[in-house]
Parts: sequence; C-alpha cells; structure tokens
Amino acid sequence: MEYNKPQIITFDKIGSSQLGYITIAETQKNVPFEIQRVYWTYYTPHDVTRGGHAHKELQQMIFAVSGTIIFNTEDKDGNKETFTLDHPTKGLYIPKLVWRDIQFSHNAVLLCLASEIYDEEDYFRDYESFKETVGKK
Ligand code: TYD
Repeated sequence: MEYNKPQIITFDKIGSSQLGYITIAETQKNVPFEIQRVYWTYYTPHDVTRGGHAHKELQQMIFAVSGTIIFNTEDKDGNKETFTLDHPTKGLYIPKLVWRDIQFSHNAVLLCLASEIYDEEDYFRDYESFKETVGKK
C-alpha cells in the first residue's frame, strides 16, 4: 500500500452481532507511522464545518467511532476528494500537506491517531498560504 495520498483503509473486526465487535489499530501493522498522540472530537453540531487546515508534517489515521463524518480534502497537487467515514472499521489515512474540511452527523465521535505531538507551527490555517507554499514544491 502506498501512503502518499488520502485514502480509506478498512480495518478488520473481530466479533459477532450477538457479542459486539473490536477493531484494532497498531503502529506499523495497519497504521503506517508511530502513534504519538490520540485525540477525539464530539458534539459538533451538524451545521458546523471543522478542519479548515493542512499540516506540514503530521500524518493521521482518523475514525468515526460513532456516527458519520465527511471529509473534503485537497492534496498538494490540487486533487479534491470526498471521503465518508460511516462505519467504525473505516480509517481515513491523511498524509502531510492535505487541506481538509470536515462535517459531522449529530452523534459523530471522531478519533484521530496522530504521528506527532501537538505543534501549532505544523498547521497551515490559511488556505491561500497553503496553496502558495505547496504550489512552489
Ligand atoms: P484544531 O486542530 O483546529 O481542530 P479541528 O480541526 O477539529 O477544528 O484544534 C482545535 C483547538 O484545539 C485549537 O485551539 C488547537 C487545540 N488543540 C490542542 O491544543 N492540541 C491538539 O492535539 C489538537 C488536535 C488541538
């Protein structure tokens, strides 16, 4: 698998409808980076768009452990895609330099596995400066 563009990865599940399920994410096994940080977001109203940024170095594996989450992405080459996380087995891998806007169903819980600890300097929060910077690469 080539991890140079955003993509949905379907993780295995163990269990049954009678007992429930477990899904496992492990560094280097099905997550292609060392996990340094985990965060989750919740209670985002349906009419709010989060995201609105790209990262200089950070890689992420993102799950909707509950609900539905829609990502609109734009990579460094200007390719725009929409990804829908609507099942707990689906992970969205996002490499560095991908702009994203995110919308949530009312019950959505986003779980993010991240390759770096938090660093505000790693963010492009301004779309024009993201486009200008990656356009020069
Ligand atoms: P942000 O990354 O902008 O979230 P989203 O893409 O979900 O809108 O972060 C929201 C706020 O939380 C911002 O003030 C930075 C802070 N934050 C941390 O302090 N540490 C973290 O690990 C993250 C992800 C965010």
